[in-house]
Amino acid sequence: MEVIVVEPERFGDAALEAVFRATADIASPVVGLATGKTPVPLYAALRARAGAEWVARVRPFAIDEYGGRRDHPCANRAYFALHWGAIPGAAAVEQFDPDAPDRAVECNRLATALEAAGGLDLVVLGIGTNGHLAFNEPGSGPGTSARAVRLTEASMAAARGCWGLETPDTGLTLGLAELLGARRAVLLATGPAKAAIVAEALEGPEGPHCPASYLQGHPATVVVLDTGAAALLRRGGGATRRD
Ligand code: PGA
Repeated sequence: MEVIVVEPERFGDAALEAVFRATADIASPVVGLATGKTPVPLYAALRARAGAEWVARVRPFAIDEYGGRRDHPCANRAYFALHWGAIPGAAAVEQFDPDAPDRAVECNRLATALEAAGGLDLVVLGIGTNGHLAFNEPGSGPGTSARAVRLTEASMAAARGCWGLETPDTGLTLGLAELLGARRAVLLATGPAKAAIVAEALEGPEGPHCPASYLQGHPATVVVLDTGAAALLRRGGGATRRD
């Protein structure tokens, strides 16, 4: 696992460099895209850098979605329209439809489409303050596949800032099997509020209590942190580290 720590103002560019590097040798990479606050600077850097050549090669997949209304402005669908769809040349994101009549069928549909595309070449991930990856909440094992889930209080608390009283208590997510099956992974985290969970995920024991900890066993993960999120790493702190 490679851990890159940068000053906050460098985060978007550092994340973009990690993503470019992870896909440099793949003609048409299948990429799982994170949502949330953390990757906003990544998408902004991509827009600013005339990254169209890379973007046009990417086959993008959502990694999760809220179980709220499909057309809600806080749905990941709206996020992608804003942050990914605004990048010139970006293909439409393959994503979950939370309005589907049967969410289990819907999750299987997306997992099957992903499998037909050859699986993920790269997954870009954020981390929840509870250690979740996409909506694989604590308790999720490495063999879990795409499915509808109940959100934890921590995930709902994070969602409330946007969703308010309409905060969904369910989600649709790729499983850890699909995410950890990605050939390469880039994990992103920013800010001191993520410092404790980042340290636990990267340096604590691997297990379902912290789904992000399974990345320790992934063969090709790059972690990009700002100095705030890296503050509690025993071996971190302002440098690049390779294990
Ligand atoms: P955030 O979400 O980027 O908004 O902190 C990360 C996550 O929950 O995976």
